Amino acid sequence: MKQRKRRMLSGMQPSGRMHLGNLLGALDNWIKYQQDYDAYFFVADWHALSTNYADTSHLRDYIREMLIDWLSAGIDPEKCTLFIQSRVPEHAVLYLLLSMITPVPWLERNPTYKEQMEELRDRDLTTYGFLGYPVLQSADILIYKADVVPVGVDQLPHLELTRELARRFSNLYKAVFPEPQPLLTEVPKLLGTDGRKMSKSYNNAIYLSDPEKDVREKLRTMVTDPARVRRTDRGNPDICPVFSYHKIFSEIGVIDRVNTECRTAEIGCIDCKKWVADRMVRRLEPIWTERQKWTKHPKKVEAVVTEGSEKAGKAARQTLEEVREAMKI
Ligand code: TRP
Ligand code: SF4
Repeated sequence: MKQRKRRMLSGMQPSGRMHLGNLLGALDNWIKYQQDYDAYFFVADWHALSTNYADTSHLRDYIREMLIDWLSAGIDPEKCTLFIQSRVPEHAVLYLLLSMITPVPWLERNPTYKEQMEELRDRDLTTYGFLGYPVLQSADILIYKADVVPVGVDQLPHLELTRELARRFSNLYKAVFPEPQPLLTEVPKLLGTDGRKMSKSYNNAIYLSDPEKDVREKLRTMVTDPARVRRTDRGNPDICPVFSYHKIFSEIGVIDRVNTECRTAEIGCIDCKKWVADRMVRRLEPIWTERQKWTKHPKKVEAVVTEGSEKAGKAARQTLEEVREAMKI
């Protein structure tokens, strides 16, 4: 008999258009896993409120843009379940029930909580919702009885709390939830065009939706080894962000060539950048083609998430039934 696929779940906050860092860091893995798992992927729009509650003006656009990016990059609604968190209100019910058994100190000692508080000093994050963020995330995961959750290292404390809550629930009532395992994936940290980490807030990102001429222009003006000013100066690829792109996008022959001929000034930065731009454009072309289709048919995007959210709701309601039974409510 064919073994049942293990269930996978992951979500992302809608932060607008996806950049290459998001593609390599998360999306590519989701795409890779979607056939081997019973995969559920969702837009965590409620989570976005935890830090952005004061300005929701872009939220709907961000959700739509992110979905189009996912679909264009290769998230296939035939293979996985794609939905929006707020369209499955069952998450909120489990969130409430879990909140009853969550000791506040568990939340207060979460390192991500403290870090974000420090980082986002411009907003008031003393809210109940922000503190409870990982409880909502636990509900997202447990309501589907997910076996695996592909995430970055920054999310590990949240996963740990999810497991602790699953155990606490079992001890208090009944074993309803499996303990989900994080699926950590080796991801190259992608640098932005200024050499810092690629990030929307640094204004150094290359977006999946950038037109070809913007991609080329961003690469043309990208920072290189700052010591290499003139064509005749020898460069050091090890400290050049352009070379870090080569290592990701180029063929081994080109990587080797840049690695040696930059150091001897046999090649110049203009050519070097053009080679990597060509590769990057090749990588992005199929995404651009797909994007056109989805952008032209917004109703199709809507249909995908409507269907996905209904399917997710069904699975969520099943678990909730068991939860109510276990808690005798
Ligand atoms: N906290 C995650 C992030 O910021 C998003 C998220 C919300 C999530 N719920 C989840 C990820 C459940 C995995 C599983 O990236
Ligand atoms: Fe960077 Fe390439 Fe110029 Fe060397 S030749 S400094 S790797 S852009």
